[in-house]
Amino acid sequence: MIDLEVIGTRKETKDTTTLFFDKSLDAVPGQFGMFWLAGKGQKPMSFSYHDAITVKDVGPFTHNLSNLCIGDRLSAEAPLGKGFDIKGNDIVLIGGGFGVAPLRFLAQRCHERGMSVTSLLGYRKLDEVLFDEELRKYGDVYVATEDGSCGEKGLVTCLLNAVGLEFDQGYCCGPERMLVAISRHIADSFPLQFSLERYMKCGLGLCGSCEIDGLLVCKDGPVFNSYELGSSFGSEKRDKSGRKTPI
Ligand SMILES: Cc1cc2nc3c(=O)[nH]c(=O)nc-3n(C[C@H](O)[C@H](O)[C@H](O)COP(=O)(O)OP(=O)(O)OC[C@H]3O[C@@H](n4cnc5c(N)ncnc54)[C@H](O)[C@@H]3O)c2cc1C
Ligand code: FES
Repeated sequence: MIDLEVIGTRKETKDTTTLFFDKSLDAVPGQFGMFWLAGKGQKPMSFSYHDAITVKDVGPFTHNLSNLCIGDRLSAEAPLGKGFDIKGNDIVLIGGGFGVAPLRFLAQRCHERGMSVTSLLGYRKLDEVLFDEELRKYGDVYVATEDGSCGEKGLVTCLLNAVGLEFDQGYCCGPERMLVAISRHIADSFPLQFSLERYMKCGLGLCGSCEIDGLLVCKDGPVFNSYELGSSFGSEKRDKSGRKTPI
C-alpha cells in the first residue's frame, strides 16, 4: 500500500473531479489502482495523469473520494493490471463519456514519443464534455454529443467517417456497447485495444469477480487487444454478488 496526500483538486465537470497526489504512482496509461479510504473500503480507479485520478461521483465511495481536500490522505495498491501497449506512429484514441479520463494520460505519453495523436470523443451532452482542451495539447480532437449541444450530433462512431480508417493503432475506453460498435465499424482496418470495466473486489487476481471468458480484467487487463476478447464482450458481466447479468 502506498500512502498518498492530496496536494491539488480540480473540478472538471459538475460531477467529475481530478485529485493530484504528492507522488507519482509509476503507472503506464491504462493501468489502475485500488484506492482505499479509511472506513469506506477500496475501489478501482484509473490514472488520468502519472500522479492523479479523475473521479466521477456516482455513489457513496466516489462521493467521498471526490470531496477530499488538499491535505487529506488516502492509500492505494498501485499500479495494477496491464495498461495500453503504446505502438505505431499514427494513432487514434476513441473515448466515450468518462472513458476519456485514462486516454488523456495515454495521449500525453504518445505525444512525448513523437506520435501523431487523433482523439475522437463522444458524450451525451455538453456538460459532460471532459478533457477535450487537455487532449488538444497533443493532437487533433473531434467531439460528438448525442444531443448535438457540442460538436457533431450523434455517437462517437460518426466521427470515424470524418477521420477515415488509416491509423496504425486504435485505443478505446468507454461504455462497452460503444466499444462493440467501434469494433464493428473498424472491423480489420487497424488493430484495436480496449479498456474494460468489471466489478472488482480485490484487484489482485484472487476473487474472480472480474472474470470475462476465462480472463481476469484486473490482472490480464483492464486493457485487451480486440482479438483476445470472447463472446461475453459487450453482452454480459458479473454483478456485485458474482451473478452474470446482461450488459
Ligand atoms: C479498471 C477500472 C477503472 C476505473 N476507473 C475509474 C476512474 O478512473 N474514475 C472513476 O470515477 N471510476 C472508475 N471506475 C469505476 C469505479 O470503480 C466505480 O464507479 C466505483 O467503484 C463506484 O463506487 P461507489 O461506491 O461510488 O458507487 P456504487 O453505488 O457502489 O456503484 C456505482 C456503479 O459503480 C460500479 N461499481 C461499484 N463498485 C465497483 C467495483 N468495486 N468495481 C467496479 N465497478 C464498481 C457499480 O457496478 C455501479 O455501476 C473504474 C472501474 C474499473 C473496473
Ligand atoms: S478483482 Fe478479484 S480477481 Fe479481479
